[in-house]
Order: sequence, then C-alpha cells, then structure tokens
Amino acid sequence: MPVVNNKLCFNGLNAEVLVQEFGSPLYVYEAEVLRERFRAFQAAFSEQVHLHYAMKANSNPTLLRLLQQEGAWIDAVAPLEVRLALDAGFAPERILFTGNNSTSDELDYCIAKGVPVNLGSLEALRRYGERYPGTEASVRVNPGMGAGHHSHCITGGPASKFGIYHDRVDTALEVATKNRIRIIGVHSHIGTGIYTPEPMLAAMELVLQASEEFQELRFIDFGGGFGIPHHPEQTPLDLPELGRQMQERFAKFCTEYGRTLTMKLEPGRFIVGPAGTLLVTATNFTDTPDYRFVGVDSGFNHFVRPTMYGSYHHILNASRSSGPEQEVVIVGNICESGDVFSRSEEGMTRKIPEVRVGDCLALCDAGAYGMSMSSQYNTRPRPAEVLVENGQARLIRRRETYADLIAAYDRTEP
Ligand code: LLP
Repeated sequence: MPVVNNKLCFNGLNAEVLVQEFGSPLYVYEAEVLRERFRAFQAAFSEQVHLHYAMKANSNPTLLRLLQQEGAWIDAVAPLEVRLALDAGFAPERILFTGNNSTSDELDYCIAKGVPVNLGSLEALRRYGERYPGTEASVRVNPGMGAGHHSHCITGGPASKFGIYHDRVDTALEVATKNRIRIIGVHSHIGTGIYTPEPMLAAMELVLQASEEFQELRFIDFGGGFGIPHHPEQTPLDLPELGRQMQERFAKFCTEYGRTLTMKLEPGRFIVGPAGTLLVTATNFTDTPDYRFVGVDSGFNHFVRPTMYGSYHHILNASRSSGPEQEVVIVGNICESGDVFSRSEEGMTRKIPEVRVGDCLALCDAGAYGMSMSSQYNTRPRPAEVLVENGQARLIRRRETYADLIAAYDRTEP
C-alpha cells in the first residue's frame, strides 16, 4: 500500500483522514483493486469460464454491483443472498444457489425467482425431485478429498458434511431418474485458503471421474478456495499456470465426454480479500512481565479470522509507516482473552513502528470474511464501510447505531 509522508494512503487518501471523516473502526475497500483482482482471475482462465463470485466473502451491495458490471456470476448460499444478488442487478440465471441443509421453502424461493439450484445431498435431491419433477438441477459432489488453511475450512473428504459422496453417484442418478430430474451440472468445493495447485488439480481429477457418470451435463463447477498471500513472505498461487492446467485438462475431458461443457469457478477470497482493510485506532497500553499489549477500538466481533482460525493478517501502523519498532500484542476491546488481532501460527506478537494512543492501525487483506462474519457481540455496533474510487471515498454502509442494535427486540414491559 502506498505511503506518503510516512502515512498509509488508499488511492491518494490518507488513512487517518478517512478515519477522521468516517469514524473508527472503518472498513475501507479499493474499487480499483477489486476490479483488478476480478480481471486477473478471468484472464488467468478465459472469458468462457463463468466466475461465480462467492458472495459469502463480502455481500456489500455496492461491491456486488461493481462485480456485476465486471461480468461476474454469483455463488449464493442462502435465500437472502439470492435476494441481495437479484437486487444488485444479477440476472437469476447468473446465480447458482448452493444451500446447506436447505429447507423446502428455500428451494421454493429460488425456483420462484428462476435461480438454478445445486443440491448437496441425496435427501435434498429426493425432496427437490418430488416437488419439481421433470425439471433440471445440478448436484454437489464430495470428491473424497479436501484442503484448506484450517480444519474448519476443509469441505471435502469423509469428515465433511458437504455434497453427495462420490461413491454414491449411482444412487444420485437413480433418485434423479425416479422424478425425471435432468442433472445438468456437477459441482464441488473442497475447501478454502488453498495455496498450491496440487489439491485443486487432484480434486479436479476426482470430480471429472464422478462427472463421467452423468450423461446430460452442461457445466462442471470446481468451486472456490484460491488462497491469497497473507504474510509478506508468502508466495502467491500461480493462478495463470493453474488456469492453464485446469483448462487443458477440462478440454481433454470435454473431448472424451463428446460435448463442450462450461467450466465454472467460485472465487471469493481471491477477489475481495486484498481489496479491503480494517482501520482501527489505538486506545490503550498494558504491560505485563512478558508482553506489551496495544489495545484498539475494535475486536473479533468486527474481524474474527485471527481469533477463529489463528489466521495471520499483516498489521501496519498507518500513522507512522517507519520508525523505531517495538514488539507488541495487538488486542481488541472484547471481553475475551482470545481477542488478539496479531495472533497467528507464529505466536501473538508483531514488530511494528512504535504505536502511540490515537494512531491508526491497518489490518490488511480484510475484505473477505471480515465484515460478512462480523457480529454485535458485547453490544457493539458494526463499523462503517467506505469505497475508495478515483481519489474519492464514499460511504457504502453506515456505522450501526443503538437503534440498529435494538431494532429486533421486544420492548413491551415484562
Ligand atoms: N464455493 C463454495 C460452495 C463455498 O462454500 C465457498 C466458501 C466458496 C465457493 C468460496 O471460497 P473462497 O474462494 O473464498 O476460498 N470463513 C472462512 C472461509 C469460509 C469459506 C466458506 N466457503 C475464512 O475466513 O477463512
């Protein structure tokens, strides 16, 4: 990120000034980075590959509209995600609904809206078939292997609840045939935060094997999971090379299958992760014999990844980018000891230019699974979100208020 006069800037806008204008803590997104990430992904594959942005990573409608203009499709996991995507201007046929434990109402909602559904269990396929005989759908297959940055994030293999296990594909066909359901797509997603091509290619092989069983396919969807380097020393995934290999293998499969199919992918983190930063303000210091704690005005209610997965996120002192460094633990304001922003597999501390009360700190690569996983724990409202574009900052979600916090409560006297 650019530094001007020792201060961190976004597209020419000083981070401290943004916080003065919009308050702290603050999520800042860079439109240019979001566009670049989408374009780079599309270029690494080809125009023919449908990129279904996994909106669970970040569902801010302004970001959705921006990606819609770029030509994105959508991976939606819940009916209200479908609704948000429709409201953001996505055509129903460009959305794929991959629910979990979907109720009949959820399926009915998608069908009523003309949104294709992707069925992740034999039970869902059976229920869908009985309600909508003679129609078409895709199925999610568990290829028998998974990968990901944390055990919570591996979504393939025998320990995963997701998809129809690859050895049950025959039963899926029987269930579909019984209700004259044409299976027009096979889907799979093995996990998230994958940094090497090997698991992707190995899973692809297994998904293609399972796909051979289906005669009427129009697409195969290999899901998301493409990791981004969180650590400055981490090597990024070679996406152009992976894209080349996946497309080559896919073309070979299509030749053998006897029909040209569409490849679909569902990147979330890769697109929006690096486009977002969480700005927080230092408010406190506490010293123990072992550590110096720097306390800030936000916590895991606003950004849970370090606490939940021990995920490293680079932290910059936006108020003084260089200068004498100190080793500190950067902690949030939530009443739990696990509320440590500087936590990672390597430990709790970071070396950062000396922090003073009032300094603005930047938690990098917070665009994906940041705001979308936030909560109001400790009765603290969610932060505002701004979009920076062409040297201008625009509020794209206002800070929550007390009125937002209490809106759903019953307020009659007990
Ligand atoms: N497709 C499906 C069916 C998914 O379940 C997911 C993510 C994606 C695509 C997008 O994966 P991505 O490209 O973003 O890796 N909260 C966790 C991530 C959970 C991802 C859940 N599913 C984290 O912060 O690491």
